[in-house]
Amino acid sequence: MDLTVEGNIYIQGGFQRCCLGVENGKIVAIKKILKSDNHHNFRSMIILPGGIDMHVHFREPGFTYKEDFTTGSIAAAFGGITCFGDMPNTKPPTVSKQTLLEKKRLAEQKSVVDFGLYAGVTNTNILKISELAMLCNGYKVFLGGTTNTLHIDDSNLENMFQQIGSCPKPVLIHAELHSCLQKYKGREENLQDHLRCRPSICEEQAINRVLEINGSSPTRMHFCHVSSAEGIEALRNRSKQISFGVTPHHLFFDVSSVKHSDQNFLKVNPPLRQRIDREAVFSAVVHGGVDVLESDHAPHSIEEKQKVFSEAPSGVPGVETMYPLMLRMAVKEKISFSRVISLVCERPGEFLQVKKGKLQVGFDADFIVVNPKEEIEITSDRLHSKCAWNPYEGFYGCFAKHVFIRGEHIINENCLVEKPGFGQWIGEDVDEE
Ligand code: NCD
Ligand code: ZN
Ligand code: ZN
Repeated sequence: MDLTVEGNIYIQGGFQRCCLGVENGKIVAIKKILKSDNHHNFRSMIILPGGIDMHVHFREPGFTYKEDFTTGSIAAAFGGITCFGDMPNTKPPTVSKQTLLEKKRLAEQKSVVDFGLYAGVTNTNILKISELAMLCNGYKVFLGGTTNTLHIDDSNLENMFQQIGSCPKPVLIHAELHSCLQKYKGREENLQDHLRCRPSICEEQAINRVLEINGSSPTRMHFCHVSSAEGIEALRNRSKQISFGVTPHHLFFDVSSVKHSDQNFLKVNPPLRQRIDREAVFSAVVHGGVDVLESDHAPHSIEEKQKVFSEAPSGVPGVETMYPLMLRMAVKEKISFSRVISLVCERPGEFLQVKKGKLQVGFDADFIVVNPKEEIEITSDRLHSKCAWNPYEGFYGCFAKHVFIRGEHIINENCLVEKPGFGQWIGEDVDEE
């Protein structure tokens, strides 16, 4: 075997003192005792699956002053995230064969962790989306305007779902309905105004509209960053092919919990909502009911965030802090480890249909090693996103001391050891003509 590791390993829903054996990047054995020339004994530290953040905006190409595949993926790695899914609202937007291939090339050169890519669907490429199926890991649809969005008209939705229905890839939805947002448009000077202009009803209407059109089709659908009690309720009886995610910022903040000086920085879409919504998100996370945690890592520069409120762009970073914040919650017994692993590793892996996110024979050897007794204060100077700020200043997290991807040591004793270019696309490679 190329590598064996020993420790307190999360397997089949619980911790066991045992060993993982790795060959050619895959887990080939899980046994009480395994040995090889390359053996690591992590003693009482816990070994968990690498996280999969299926929703990030790494801003490349076009906005690399905010983030790029190298800085974003390094932030991911330090946050225990071994695979990410990148959104298409870049410049140019990822909406064609050519732009997908170009983004794949950039990520292959620059990412230290594995990655998936989503193709954006707009009014103008609907009829061509089947051509993109083999080049992407899913389609992204924005039902309402947000930061640098790709627009699709309400009247095109039916046609779009029909087209996607014949493709083997799932669809991810930003569910705030454009026509509803138009109705509530108004002056915005703070987070309360931002919430008033983007009320929960627009999320609920978007979800219901999609369910109405496509809720019983076999197309796999994922509702991104659901943020309201109404939205969660609308998805309660969803069928098996439908999943939804929530973000850490909707879990840890609500509109009234943000200091005045942080208002611009926590401007995000969907907006931070009321306490009751946050409690609904919290309950769905802890008790089940939501499938996935996704960071919606959406960095903007400090200068951009410091503009007057109405002009500050929406979005917060979070790829590096999501898993550590959740692990600390598990250590403090506010949530079970099995819920955290399900939300951050297993379900996103199933959605992307990759053999990742579980410590199981036949799966990629992507895992992290964490000392559960060590919590670290989150400060921007310790984090790696290019945007150089974060919303969780002063929070605590349990960070990975070691990260392995496909059996390779990526982070060793809190130091990055692999280089940009190690990361691989998770799609199936076809001839690129
Ligand atoms: C995202 C961004 O900045 O790209 N912004 C956000 O507020 N979440 C876009 C998005 O996911 O809606
Ligand atoms: Zn979104
Ligand atoms: Zn997003």
